[in-house]
Amino acid sequence: TTGDVTYDIGFMNTAGTKSAITFIDGDEGILRYRGYPIEQLAQHSSFVEVTYLLIYGELPTADELEAFDNRLRRHTLLHEDLKGFFAGFPRDAHPMPVLSSAVSALSTFYQDSLNPFDKQQVELSTFRLLAKMPVIAAYAHKKSIGQPMLYPDNSLNSVENFLRMCFGLPTEHYELDPLVVKALDTLLILHADHEQNCSTSTVRLVGSSNANLFASVSAGINALFGPLHGGANEAVLNMLRKIKAEGIKPEDFMEKVKNKEDGVKLMGFGHRVYKNYDPRAKIVKGIADELLEKLGIDDELLDIAKRLEEKALADDYFVERKLYPNVDFYTGVIYKAMGFPEKMFTVLFALGRLPGWIAQWREMIEDPATKIGRPRQLYTGSPERNYPLD
Ligand code: SDX
Repeated sequence: TTGDVTYDIGFMNTAGTKSAITFIDGDEGILRYRGYPIEQLAQHSSFVEVTYLLIYGELPTADELEAFDNRLRRHTLLHEDLKGFFAGFPRDAHPMPVLSSAVSALSTFYQDSLNPFDKQQVELSTFRLLAKMPVIAAYAHKKSIGQPMLYPDNSLNSVENFLRMCFGLPTEHYELDPLVVKALDTLLILHADHEQNCSTSTVRLVGSSNANLFASVSAGINALFGPLHGGANEAVLNMLRKIKAEGIKPEDFMEKVKNKEDGVKLMGFGHRVYKNYDPRAKIVKGIADELLEKLGIDDELLDIAKRLEEKALADDYFVERKLYPNVDFYTGVIYKAMGFPEKMFTVLFALGRLPGWIAQWREMIEDPATKIGRPRQLYTGSPERNYPLD
């Protein structure tokens, strides 16, 4: 029994590691960061405060939060040579490989903060990555639409700065919409950590070789890009667009899914751990309804998503397999309403998950007992045999 949960030995044998950061109960649909329920953090906290909580383990005082935020703002500028990095990518490059490449390249520009066992260097790389990754993400977006890149404005917080750098132009003032800022801030909180998911396990595994933080997170970004993981939010929008464009009835699409025609899945549904409604999906669905109504957007894709959910939750195929909406099912509709192209959806997931990746990497560096270490295997290949010499 650890904390308030008793695990059977079977579970512990499959557990990748111990961790004190995030707790999930997949059967009950519970998610807590450092003990705080996700519902309370989404309602009352901010992304910068949750970032502090995940990394340092406690909620900051007002002074601690102000000092943390101010220090973040001082690290937003990218090295000018790194800015030139973007010129080399093809115009239609997907922003996720651009993001992972540029994050990996940070270790060539900031060589004074690579030592995982020097606490000051770990702090410096933490602030540099938290502050610069949103800037890199915004530059990747601007590159993909052929618009000039803006320098960060340190009078804004990280979320405001990111929106301004994505949608602002050097030719005019950009007016932030507080509704959009608040909605994105909450969505980033919902994505901030999620125990030992594929990308976080990747960050820990790469970091377990004492690779630096930039290299470990770059690997995590690549893992997140997979359509069964973070890439699912982009795949959901493609699925909804296809249903709308081809005029497929939701019930006919569900038959395709149940018959596994062409391997089609109901993207945004199902989860390795949640065998109940993903608590994040409930909050995201509420944000989708509220934001689109307040922005006066009537998006048929949201209606299609709701009809698919309604049918799935009443269908034995999905109920028997405990398939419920996950965090990716409704996020794309919101990002689209904010003005982001589909290629940026998984980048937004990565920006949200960054504090979790950093917190988990730091935990592993500080406590080697939490290293995932070196997985073994069950050998199923040929028995020993001799090389034919005749
Ligand atoms: C994320 O781990 C995390 O925490 C991840 C994440 C995070 O915050 O980091 O929560 C973020 O990655 C969310 C998941 C996003 N991915 C998708 O939405 C892609 C669609 N989902 C599936 O690929 C699937 O549900 C998984 C991979 C997410 C989970 O798969 P499981 O739990 O291992 O289930 P499975 O693949 O063993 O399938 C069990 C059954 C199978 O049917 P049968 O072979 O028994 O007949 O359920 C079916 C599957 O075919 N199934 C689905 C389905 N997901 C599972 N059928 C249709 N649509 C789906 N989405």
